Amino acid sequence: MKWPAFIFTAPILLAIGCKSHYDTTTEPFTAVKTGNSMEHGKNLVFNVCGQCHYNEDANSFIGEKIRDLPGFMGKVYSANLTDSKRYGIAGYKDAEIYYLLKRGIAKDGRFIPYMVRPNMADADINDIIVYLRSGDEPVKAKDTVAGKSHLSLLGKLATKVSGKPLPLKKNIKRPSPDNTIAYGRYLVDIIGCYHCHSKSILSLDYLEPEKSKGYMAGGMKWNIEGDKIRASNITPDKATGIGNYTMADFRKAVREGEAPGGRVLHYPMRRFKHLTDTQTDAIYAYLMTLPPKDHKVKGH
Ligand code: HEC
Ligand code: HEC
Repeated sequence: MKWPAFIFTAPILLAIGCKSHYDTTTEPFTAVKTGNSMEHGKNLVFNVCGQCHYNEDANSFIGEKIRDLPGFMGKVYSANLTDSKRYGIAGYKDAEIYYLLKRGIAKDGRFIPYMVRPNMADADINDIIVYLRSGDEPVKAKDTVAGKSHLSLLGKLATKVSGKPLPLKKNIKRPSPDNTIAYGRYLVDIIGCYHCHSKSILSLDYLEPEKSKGYMAGGMKWNIEGDKIRASNITPDKATGIGNYTMADFRKAVREGEAPGGRVLHYPMRRFKHLTDTQTDAIYAYLMTLPPKDHKVKGH
């Protein structure tokens, strides 16, 4: 999915030609509760969906304001993912959630670019849905919304031309946690670390993340309430990346937001508090296999 370079120069012509509704799902997909699907689903919902949908003050997935989108896009709030009939996902069928995650097509046929996860294993989507429907406190029905999205004209246009639904990659298997490097690579993909830690949001490759420009070498920029924040180089380069991190340093940075020397990591870096030791260590092991890239990020 690439944002064409002419995006800002020919908006009107494009607006006329762009498709905004796509065929909805005909895939059969029904989530089934098995052994540890509830517990495993909770881990994924917190680590993946929680980045945008979890409202800490309410301890609930009622949604929240997305603060790390470019300002020109307007205001965007994530949706209520609780079991509420009126505001939540009680009316979303399992197959529709599957389609939204795999291809980016919502149940009303809109293309929503924020959460496409084409490489997510079917078993993981299954467990995510099992947890979302479980009635556990953070996902128990709450009849409220965090706010109403209001995309600017340019924002609407950007989401329209920035992408289109991804091809459906079916029957993807979840790698075993014993296969440490493959598991770490998979987590980087489905959690979306590379969405922020590559060169630009405009040159990400969702189907083959490692082909994203500047994969993991950092430099992406945000303007968060007036502060310029840049994502770190997290390749194993010793001088400009995380080559000097120990596994313990890495756990602390990723879960608690504190880099070696006590440097506090700024939003939009999340506190991935719900990652287990097995998960952080697999991500670390995978990152250490990447080619070190000598790329100094300003301010780091
Ligand atoms: C990067 C941020 C982000 C992540 C991560 C994310 N979402 Fe979302 N999600 C959004 C935003 C923003 C919206 C609202 C989009 C809109 O209404 O245009 C949304 C909307 C939704 C909707 C409602 C779609 C509709 O028809 O209006 C569902 C269902 C959903 N997300 C499920 C999930 C699940 C399940 C996960 C985790 C696997 C997830 N999301 C991860 C940002 C995110
Ligand atoms: C929404 C964007 C975003 C996502 C997703 C994200 N990061 Fe970050 N990350 C950042 C930003 C921005 C910084 C720099 C923060 C600062 O300098 O204060 C950062 C910093 C870091 C650092 C500190 C490096 C250093 O010493 O400067 C590590 C380690 C890290 N991220 C790992 C990860 C991992 C692993 C994931 C996935 C589990 C991840 N990040 C997901 C935005 C993100």
